[in-house]
Amino acid sequence: MEAAPSQGTGEDAKLSLLLAAGHGRERLVPMQGLPTGTVTLLFTDIEGSTRLLEEHGDRYATVLADHRRALRDAFAAHDGVEVDTQGDAFFYAFASAIGAVAAASTAQQALSGGPVQVRMGLHTGTPIATDEGYVGIDVHRAARICAAGHGGQIVVSDSTRELLEDGTFHDLGEHRLKDLSEPVRLYQIGDGEFPRLRTLHQTNLPVAPAPFLGRERELAEVLGLLGTSRMLTLTGPGGTGKTRLAAQAAAESAEQYPGGVWWISLAAVRDPALVLDSIAQVLGASDGLADHIAEKELLLLLDNLEQLLEVAPDLADLLSRCSGLRMLVTSREPLRIAAEQEYPVPPFVSEEAVSFFGARARIVNPSFQQTPVVSKICSRLTAACGRRLFAPLALHFFHDDTASSGCAIMLWLARDWRSQSKAPVNRTVFGTLPVSRTCAEAISPAPWPSSPRASEIVRPPRRGLAVPVTRSGGGQSCR
Ligand SMILES: Nc1ncnc2c1ncn2[C@@H]1O[C@H](COP(=O)(O)OP(=O)(O)OP(=O)(O)O)[C@@H](O)[C@H]1O
Ligand SMILES: [Mg+2]
Repeated sequence: MEAAPSQGTGEDAKLSLLLAAGHGRERLVPMQGLPTGTVTLLFTDIEGSTRLLEEHGDRYATVLADHRRALRDAFAAHDGVEVDTQGDAFFYAFASAIGAVAAASTAQQALSGGPVQVRMGLHTGTPIATDEGYVGIDVHRAARICAAGHGGQIVVSDSTRELLEDGTFHDLGEHRLKDLSEPVRLYQIGDGEFPRLRTLHQTNLPVAPAPFLGRERELAEVLGLLGTSRMLTLTGPGGTGKTRLAAQAAAESAEQYPGGVWWISLAAVRDPALVLDSIAQVLGASDGLADHIAEKELLLLLDNLEQLLEVAPDLADLLSRCSGLRMLVTSREPLRIAAEQEYPVPPFVSEEAVSFFGARARIVNPSFQQTPVVSKICSRLTAACGRRLFAPLALHFFHDDTASSGCAIMLWLARDWRSQSKAPVNRTVFGTLPVSRTCAEAISPAPWPSSPRASEIVRPPRRGLAVPVTRSGGGQSCR
């Protein structure tokens, strides 16, 4: 699966299931009847479904069925195509943005006065139609926009608004969605007073280069533990995905911290004495860190703390003096203080690696669709390497700095490394890659880099990572 809008946060979890079901299982043949080209995607979701269930008890099934009928009737009347449904959330596609907005408005009118309040989010883009739904960043975007709204509200992206006539929308300003993307301008259709959108504010969380992929279970577990631990430390070897998982969990839980969610990047800090200064700088605390935080409810994401473990007592002291403070730490080693809960981040599984590859390949070639070759490589790698080794390998295949480097690595491995590799593990692993060229060619017929040097395409890890390195003698090995 490629992403999830708000996993683990109660009612938003169903949007994640919908998104996953809507476009996670990639096949080669487009699903029948899906509009193609420029498409407006509409996600809907009932607000407060748990509360509704408690209020209505056995009658909730009828309430839910009435709501489904009202939405389906309104959407069908405007030529909407149902892509998927999960519980009480819908995913629809429309060939026309005007039709999609009219459908959403009709549906809201039909529900008004009833017990069910539905949030709706629309976004227009060019998702790729596959046999079980759409794939691409536009699907993530539409789901996130829906998750940002409130019951009874219709929120649309800039690209949908551009296709509408003046006067039908209100500017809600720029917002950072919880996918950690760049800020986007959002609009509300029709009148109505609603609370602030459920988007990110009071944060310096970094913009993520790509959507968050897979990891539904881990994200839900981290969110759960974050609710009960003062300090939660995500541990694991370099490249396991600790920082990305922590940033996503921080974004998803941002509403629970009125004092904000603050990212403290410590990778470049070598002196433990500078950790508290780094925190103070980010928070703008000139009057003493503990006094500045005081009773504020805020989350600090202390990222890459492994070389600064001596700061543990100072962090314990800060926690004891600031009752609303929580810390989410990423580190290759735990800090081993009483307040700490460790969460070892498990490696990626083969299915997630396949999604990574698809997402990366689509940056090179937007119409790329998965081929069985990709899953074959990923499952062979998983089997050959064992899960521990596979995690960093997968990440460096599919998540290097440039879009094509994952493909370049595969091709390079197939062509050069297989013959040169001496270490048993390498022979096992890279003997499994005769299909790499096919894989690269499936992505794009463009000429691929000829024999790139490992140092040119693989960013060396700081330590403890199994990735290719070039030996002075010209051969390659894993370290
Ligand atoms: N679930 C994910 N979805 C999308 N991208 C991911 C995911 N997990 C990891 N990545 C990407 O993989 C790369 C490595 O992940 P990350 O930086 O989180 O690893 P790390 O465990 O923090 O490594 P280090 O110990 O070196 O800091 C990054 O480019 C990150 O964006
Ligand atoms: Mg990290």
